[in-house]
Amino acid sequence: MPVVVIIGGQWGDEGKGRVVDFHSQYCSVIARYSAGNNAGHTIINEHGKFGLHLVPAGIFRADKACLIGNGVVLDPAKLLEEIAMLTERGVSTARLMISQHAHVIMPWHPIIDRAEERLKGELAIGTTGTGTGPAFHDKVGRVGIRVADLMDREHFEWKLRNTLEYKNRVLTGLYGEEPLEFEPIRRQYLEYGEKMRPYVADTIAYVQDADERGEMILLEGAQGSLLDLDTGTYPYVTSSVPASVAAGGAIGIGLGPTSIQRVVGVYKSYQTRVGNGPMPTEITSGFEMEMLREGLGGAAGTAEYGVTTGRARRVGWFDGVLARYTARLNGVTSVALTRLDSLSALDSIKVCVAYELDGERVHTLPPTLADMSRVTPIFEELPGWNQDVTEARHLGDLPTQARQYVRRIEQILGVPVDMISVGPERHQAIVTRDVFGAVIP
Ligand code: IMP
Ligand code: MG
Repeated sequence: MPVVVIIGGQWGDEGKGRVVDFHSQYCSVIARYSAGNNAGHTIINEHGKFGLHLVPAGIFRADKACLIGNGVVLDPAKLLEEIAMLTERGVSTARLMISQHAHVIMPWHPIIDRAEERLKGELAIGTTGTGTGPAFHDKVGRVGIRVADLMDREHFEWKLRNTLEYKNRVLTGLYGEEPLEFEPIRRQYLEYGEKMRPYVADTIAYVQDADERGEMILLEGAQGSLLDLDTGTYPYVTSSVPASVAAGGAIGIGLGPTSIQRVVGVYKSYQTRVGNGPMPTEITSGFEMEMLREGLGGAAGTAEYGVTTGRARRVGWFDGVLARYTARLNGVTSVALTRLDSLSALDSIKVCVAYELDGERVHTLPPTLADMSRVTPIFEELPGWNQDVTEARHLGDLPTQARQYVRRIEQILGVPVDMISVGPERHQAIVTRDVFGAVIP
């Protein structure tokens, strides 16, 4: 039966959290399959407003199993904080499961994250500083510590002693940092392990059994496709292995690729990016930048600042070249277009339909970063609607110009737009079809 993956089609922060929150009502399992607590989802529902980094956005529906899959790296302190915060606010975490294979962010990872950024000079990525990148380096370098390692005291002490000896050489010799002490880490991480123990499970077996029983499983992507290590705007990408694109969903949770039947691509009605790297449609000053960054045109509380780092996001026009590239990259079958309300105060709206590079028209991601930095976006200009849309619940409630805008994006992507969000609240959305293409009245 169906496995659905929900991915971000841009540079992250497309509003995946709220899309997952919506679709999770039809699923019995909701799982994170990649990345770490570098990710941030904002969800607003009857319990209030939440910023989640690790716990799947399905946690608000009490009867659903929420899995943190083998492809995730997690900072135990952050995860336990998140669990405590949810519990305190009346959201049960009883059905949360954490993979034994998930990798653990250790105290040296954030130190190395920051030191790397410093040493890289002009090559700095603008990371979230959470240690996620270095934890993935260690996973690939086969010196990572996994959740299972924390479950066995003797084994953990042995592994930590050996790893720390090596890491201290790296910290002092390579990065000029102070060495870390064994005992406090040992104590702290064993304590984390004990607190996590009730949640630790064989998530691979769980999800495979659920798949076999024909339950509907939702895989929740983190970050956006353009931040993908292999197919994104390298090196200005995140380090997740497996990929943050839909294909990574199978690996990151332990299913075969043939299980995945649908892919929902979440796209913001414009474009944002945090961190460094080229962004051809970026708007760097003026009224339109203010408008988009501060969310002035739309529903309250939609300003563009990072959930994880608080950094102001770079904003720009919808980039149809990149959007089409990621729709194909992920095999997107259904689009969720978010934050349409944020465009409401603009007289006219630009959409990038191609790039110009050395006098030629280009329709896909340029092969090198240097090329990508010097393309000129070719814009199409569409009329704005200058009207509040936050109360629209059906396509027919939208002004003609807004519908025209949605249709244009649909044409560019070659995939139907089945969901449009017009505000951050759960009910502020227009859903025309469910992810299987069934019409929702
Ligand atoms: P890292 O994942 O912390 O190593 O950061 C690598 C790049 O990905 C930086 O440009 C970050 O700003 C960006 N990034 C990481 N996580 C997110 C996210 O959840 N949303 C948007 N950008 C992100
Ligand atoms: Mg985010």
